[in-house]
Amino acid sequence: MNELRPRLAVLISGRGSNLQAFIQACQGGQVSADIGVVISNRPNAGGLQTAAQAGLETLVLDHKRFPSREAFDAELARALHSAKIDLIILAGFMRILTADFVNQFQGRLVNIHPSLLPKYPGLNTHDRAIDNGDSVAGATVHYVTPDLDGGPPIVHVKCPIRPDDTGASLAARLLPMEHMIYPAAVQLHLTKRVYLAEGHAYFDGKPLPPDGIDWAALPAQDAHL
Ligand code: GAR
Repeated sequence: MNELRPRLAVLISGRGSNLQAFIQACQGGQVSADIGVVISNRPNAGGLQTAAQAGLETLVLDHKRFPSREAFDAELARALHSAKIDLIILAGFMRILTADFVNQFQGRLVNIHPSLLPKYPGLNTHDRAIDNGDSVAGATVHYVTPDLDGGPPIVHVKCPIRPDDTGASLAARLLPMEHMIYPAAVQLHLTKRVYLAEGHAYFDGKPLPPDGIDWAALPAQDAHL
């Protein structure tokens, strides 16, 4: 761990494939930061093993053991402060965070959501896109605000929907794309090229459009291709 590098917390609830992408990106230098702690709200999250194998500090905060959402979030905030975290990465973290928590970390809290936001906030995004007859689905990295999945997008990637797609097949095809855009978006934040100010996201000093940067339009050096 390099003491001069920013420290990330990666928050998970399950498999942790996006966590794995960050482990590789931090090791490979595509993300100039270290993972200070991996926190799961589920004791059996597969990602905890991935983290331990990589020698990362892990913490389980089982939400079922807390009397309220507020109590859980207070303990989460305490853990993040004590780990001296600069940026919190929600990577398949399936808990709604309270406005108090989000406001405390605003501008330092990012999420990846499996839809082209602002379309399809919430759950079952791929099934909803297919049921609506959409031709394109995608994923979006965004700053988190108290508005669920409503914070300003940073980067999105598009994934065409095939006629025979199911929610599961679409999710599987999209996942490797998530693993590309999430570390790249975080690196844009860490290098201060992207930031949140007064509820808006900016890229190289210019306000970002409501759907963020299109991955396909991002120069190769920023996309780490
Ligand atoms: C990812 O597909 C991510 O976009 C989604 O959960 C999956 C986590 O996979 N996140 C959400 O649905 C957030 N609302 P992973 O555990 O393998 O990274």
